[in-house]
Amino acid sequence: MKTQTKAKETAVIIIPTYNEADNIGKMIEYLCTKTFPSLDKKWNMHILVVDDSSPDGTGKVVEKLSRKYKNVHLYTNPTKNGIGAAYLVGFKHAMDHLKADYVFEFDGDFQHPPETIPVMLKAMDDGYDYVIGSRKIKGGSNPKGWGFKRVFFSEVGGFVARFLMFFPFKNFFQVTDPTTGLKVTRVKGFIDKMNLDASHLYTKSFGYKLQLLYETLKMGAKFKEIPLEFHVRNAGESKIESKTAKDIFMVALKMRWYDELTQKFLKFAVVGGIGFIVNVVGGRLFKNFLTPRIASTSTVNGLANALAAELSIISNFTWNNLWTFSKEKITGSSLLGKFLTFNASSLVTGILIPSTVIALLTNLFGDYFLLYQIIAIFLLTIPLNWFVYNKIIWRKK
Ligand code: GDD
Ligand code: MN
Repeated sequence: MKTQTKAKETAVIIIPTYNEADNIGKMIEYLCTKTFPSLDKKWNMHILVVDDSSPDGTGKVVEKLSRKYKNVHLYTNPTKNGIGAAYLVGFKHAMDHLKADYVFEFDGDFQHPPETIPVMLKAMDDGYDYVIGSRKIKGGSNPKGWGFKRVFFSEVGGFVARFLMFFPFKNFFQVTDPTTGLKVTRVKGFIDKMNLDASHLYTKSFGYKLQLLYETLKMGAKFKEIPLEFHVRNAGESKIESKTAKDIFMVALKMRWYDELTQKFLKFAVVGGIGFIVNVVGGRLFKNFLTPRIASTSTVNGLANALAAELSIISNFTWNNLWTFSKEKITGSSLLGKFLTFNASSLVTGILIPSTVIALLTNLFGDYFLLYQIIAIFLLTIPLNWFVYNKIIWRKK
């Protein structure tokens, strides 16, 4: 009987180092003699250390071991350029020279237990594209020795980053540990499509984690977290600086701010604001124009508002079409039909639904007109318009 041999796959453990001479030798030995031999034979494992010319001689230790183990490689940066830049250059090298199918982000100080490697490979085998180690799910943990301050920063900082980047979408619930350093990513479709030029990073320091997380998930990676028991450092010192917290916050904010959806929503809000002004100012102008011509004040007010409302609808449609949804811009023969649909939907979302709800609320809780109006605008008209615009009027092709 023929036994089926599984196709070989290559995974590269990338370890960035800066002054890890007391750790890196032990780490390489551990991986090569304990972790790798325990894996299924289909895995072709490599270690790629990206060292920033550490003054403590980290590079020499790695170089020596790279002669002992053929699958250990050293890439040397001439100067200290940050952990983020080190990983990007490592990804590139792993792809171009080692034919990587998967790349790991792995610290060289034993804070990431090597025992997570087989667990993560198994998940990749199961078809995931992006697997990260989480300290916040069942089975994961922070080091016992961490003081209040570090735990506080990790917990609050992590949550703020998570909230800023993903709330209220699926990833907010899916990603529990956005700043984790332990990851594995599929090369095909993800690393090979990524911008690996470090100049595109908002920060070359630890905040890059958030940027890559955001970009990889944006590419539609099938994502999973596995528990990470984050250990205490074996030897040497952490390279995290006091400005790192601010850095991480800024990156999270920028990722969200420059996101296409955010930009769209902001433009939608500005256009809506302009529409509101057109409605109020236009109402005034029409009233001034109509007053000398029509006797009944109630007719004047009603007519003035109807005209001003239509004007604001035209303004909303025009600016949203040219600016907010410029990528889905409506032109030519479909313009009239879409504009009429837009008018009809404005009537429903801007008048019919909110007015009915306001009447209902008044009936139930008494006369708090202004409060109800505010509720109606922010909880009904705005979300409903956003929905209708995206799903009906300017639906993505
Ligand atoms: N090449 C290079 N250049 N490597 C660096 C640099 C650098 O500028 N800065 C740090 N490293 C290396 C370290 O030598 C170590 O192997 C790894 O990157 C992680 O750095 P640590 O200094 O040990 O970071 P940490 O343990 O305090 O931070 C951990 O938690 C962070 C946030 O929760 C790490 O897991 C981070 O990856 C994680 O983002
Ligand atoms: Mn560390």
